[in-house]
Amino acid sequence: MNMNAGTKSGTAAVPAETEVSERVEALLERMSLEEKIGQLTQASGAVWTAGESAEDIIRKGGAGSVLWLNDTKRFNELQKIAVEESPSGIPVLFALDVIHGYRTIFPVPLAMAASWDPAAAEQAQAVAAREARAAGIHWTFGPMLDIARDARWGRIVEGAGEDPCLGAAMAAAQVRGFQGDDLSDPERVLACAKHFAGYGASEGGRDYDPVHLSEAQLRNVYFPPFQAALKAGVATFMSAYMDLNNVPASGNCWLLRDVLREEWGFAGFLVSDAFGVGNLVVEGFARDGRDAALRALKAGVNVDMASATYSENLAGLVESDLISVGEIDEMVRPILATKVQMGLFERPYVDETLLEEVVARPEHRQAARLAAQRSMVLLRNEGGLLPLSKEQKNIAVIGPLADSMVATEGSWMVFGHKPGAVTVLQGIRARLPEANVAYAPGPKIYRDFPHPFGEFDTAAKEPIQTPEAAEAAFQTAVATARGADVVIMVLGEEADMAGEFASRGSLDLPGRQDELLQAVTALGKPVVLVLLNGRPLSINWAAENVPAILEAWEPGTEGGHAVADILFGDVNPGGKLPVCFPRSGSHAPLYYARTLTHLPESSPRYLSRYWDSPTTPLYPFGFGLSYTTFAIANLKVSASQIKVGQTVAVTADVTNTGPVTGDEVVQLYIHQQWGSDSRPMRELKGFARVTLQPGETKPVRFSLGPDELSYWSTNAKGWIQDAAAFDIWIGSDSLATLHADLEVIQ
Ligand code: NOJ
Repeated sequence: MNMNAGTKSGTAAVPAETEVSERVEALLERMSLEEKIGQLTQASGAVWTAGESAEDIIRKGGAGSVLWLNDTKRFNELQKIAVEESPSGIPVLFALDVIHGYRTIFPVPLAMAASWDPAAAEQAQAVAAREARAAGIHWTFGPMLDIARDARWGRIVEGAGEDPCLGAAMAAAQVRGFQGDDLSDPERVLACAKHFAGYGASEGGRDYDPVHLSEAQLRNVYFPPFQAALKAGVATFMSAYMDLNNVPASGNCWLLRDVLREEWGFAGFLVSDAFGVGNLVVEGFARDGRDAALRALKAGVNVDMASATYSENLAGLVESDLISVGEIDEMVRPILATKVQMGLFERPYVDETLLEEVVARPEHRQAARLAAQRSMVLLRNEGGLLPLSKEQKNIAVIGPLADSMVATEGSWMVFGHKPGAVTVLQGIRARLPEANVAYAPGPKIYRDFPHPFGEFDTAAKEPIQTPEAAEAAFQTAVATARGADVVIMVLGEEADMAGEFASRGSLDLPGRQDELLQAVTALGKPVVLVLLNGRPLSINWAAENVPAILEAWEPGTEGGHAVADILFGDVNPGGKLPVCFPRSGSHAPLYYARTLTHLPESSPRYLSRYWDSPTTPLYPFGFGLSYTTFAIANLKVSASQIKVGQTVAVTADVTNTGPVTGDEVVQLYIHQQWGSDSRPMRELKGFARVTLQPGETKPVRFSLGPDELSYWSTNAKGWIQDAAAFDIWIGSDSLATLHADLEVIQ
């Protein structure tokens, strides 16, 4: 079947609000209860319900959406059944996790946050949306907006890091990128703000473990990215898996109804996480599937993702008068409205001829390269080792990730994706075609417990390297390095070492990588360490002994080119860390915005922490170097005293004092010195990534008003702005020292 533009895939005008609701009501009028429950059911395209074919389910109107299917032709086949054979002909939404690219892979979200460049994140997700939509996908499960302050948690890679201000900016940008401002745009997809809420604070960084967060922490730290996504128009939300203060998120009425709908006015629809409704039983919350369906629906979960708990129980619950048809209608309404707004009834099919042309667009590749360049963070550059001269003749590229397309693309590929990244080795060889670039991977690295998604990986599995083979690989790597003038070590974590099911106790370089790094560094050659990883790593030895370290994260399709662009000076790195790098896994959670103690860090008796290691991070939040230097000066606050409710302007000048063009991310931090509650010792309240020519100065300007100076108070049980004194700092990371005072009075 080839459903081309002529057959209902062109553009449609956005219907007016009244027209949308009239059409929705007309549909509801003629839909059976079974069909309504179908709209609340998301069927798995990977594992269809036992005994029923996909065709059977869709033909009876039993699935309003389908996930885990990535097959353009099959989308059209199933859609044709939905439109032509199901009782009310309601088209299906095809949903998939398109997290950082569909075919053109962008840096992982943590890396995109390191760009401190919301415009780059928006562009990346716009490309992802265009490609995904050309494949027939209508709805992505992103952006992931969980604040993560524990680097052991594997899913830290999927979000924007530890900070609500940066997280909110990245959230809004990604929603704009995925969704645009018109749901009927045929190059966009519905976005989904997930996982609502608090998932990043799971105890011990263990995936899915319980979360205990005060209302103040939720509202001041964990909610802001979700509110920013909502403000940017996000169409859908996803409830989180875990137990939040003893009520699982998917059965949490306070979270999903009182806060999200009543207080914030969310009018779209919410999907549970996969099997999340059924899991209310496993979590010891619901008595059985029937109870789970009842409590999830009452809590405000519109769509049951993959657990079939709604399809099995809702009709019975209606029959027993525990749920009314009116309540079912209320949950179905926003789903139908979204389908109408998207123009899905007019254009249910995807043009099967589009995809290959769209994914091959050179501008997608260019955007991916730019995003990768902007996301990389220079952590160390002793003696200006970087950039390397392009005249290099003899380079050794060493490490298990140097030629790994999988590690370069990173975690969360769409179903069926075939790795296609430019590796670091390839990028270096392409940049210096005349040089002799020798390569040795060294010993392989493995997870101690395999990743459960490995079972979906159809690629032939190589046998595990024996200790003898690993030792031989180690010696070959050292010998290869010995023969070179400069050594580029590419170390870090494989893609399956961060992400879901990928929490770790240690943050060290896995396997024998640190040992290899030490052996190679002992050769006395100039050594550059390029890190590929999806979480902070405690690279303590490297931080003291390896002269140049580039944090390249999991940089995506164009990653290898972007690394070479930076190593050889075509591009000057300007990314900054969106998370602290702890010195050890046991230091997590570690973040800069803690509240003060009675023995704060400035105290001469600051000995209360660990006696076996410094308690400061290895690298602080906001940190990143450049090939040039910057000076930030002339900090001015437009008034030294304001009244509650008023706003001040905070300005400063940033100058490139070095020899090359570069980017500085100017960061504004505040500290409220006393108040109704104790407040974090520092909080980011604004940032600006500025490009400067050598010698150039530019002004930066931020404002501080009620939005920045208010907070949700535990004592006051609500939002307040205190009359208090504030410290203001402006600088290039969270240790900024340029200081001013501000007094807020009643
Ligand atoms: C589980 C994950 O937690 C969620 O992020 C994802 O969107 C769903 N599975 C669907 O794949």
